[in-house]
Amino acid sequence: MTDMQTRAAHWDERYRTVGADRVSWFEPEPHQSLALLQMVGAGPSSSVIDIGGGASPLAGCLVEQGYRDVSVLDISQEALDAAQARLHRPGAVTWIKADLLEWVPDRRWQVWHDRAVFHFLTEERDRAAYRLLLHRALEPGGAAIISTFGEAGPTSCSGLPVARYSPIRLIAEIGPGFTPVGSGGFDHVTPTGLTQKFTWVALRADLP
Ligand SMILES: C[S@@+](CC[C@H](N)C(=O)[O-])C[C@H]1O[C@@H](n2cnc3c(N)ncnc32)[C@H](O)[C@@H]1O
Repeated sequence: MTDMQTRAAHWDERYRTVGADRVSWFEPEPHQSLALLQMVGAGPSSSVIDIGGGASPLAGCLVEQGYRDVSVLDISQEALDAAQARLHRPGAVTWIKADLLEWVPDRRWQVWHDRAVFHFLTEERDRAAYRLLLHRALEPGGAAIISTFGEAGPTSCSGLPVARYSPIRLIAEIGPGFTPVGSGGFDHVTPTGLTQKFTWVALRADLP
């Protein structure tokens, strides 16, 4: 198996065996993400990509709010199937099955949203691939919203090691070319009732 196939098999297995509504990161209402989108000034005319969006209800909520250009990228077909099964109008979202570490986009978006994906990139070469993709996929002046486990968050998730970030470390990790517009923390309560500490940052891509 290639690295990509191994990663896809891992995530497919998690969604299949645990269930899209029982995985630890599941949230029935993406309140925090919606608030952060509002904070960066996104609205129905904004194009948004949810990186590693999985079976999150976020895309459906955005379509309900009138967003007309919403894309979800994930490596797991199981997750994308579960997300689509939940929507009244799955055709209103662009679904992209791809490994973000290898994917080359053919367009740009105004908003990049990542909840709980970047912290799985524990190797520098993978974080470099993420940064390259972010630069390729985000429009100049666009906004990136990235949420990871906080410094007091879990040390692993879904059987994989994770990195934990303070806002300052996360901003530094994303590197030059962005201006921070906000950062902070939030608690996620898992379907089994555990509280997980998250860090979020919102960054504006510098204009050329
Ligand atoms: C912890 S889950 C978070 C899912 C979603 N963002 C949410 O908040 O519900 C991580 C997601 O990232 C996806 N993922 C992990 N590695 C990936 C990769 N290399 N490329 C694309 N998606 C990936 C997984 O399939 C999974 O859906």
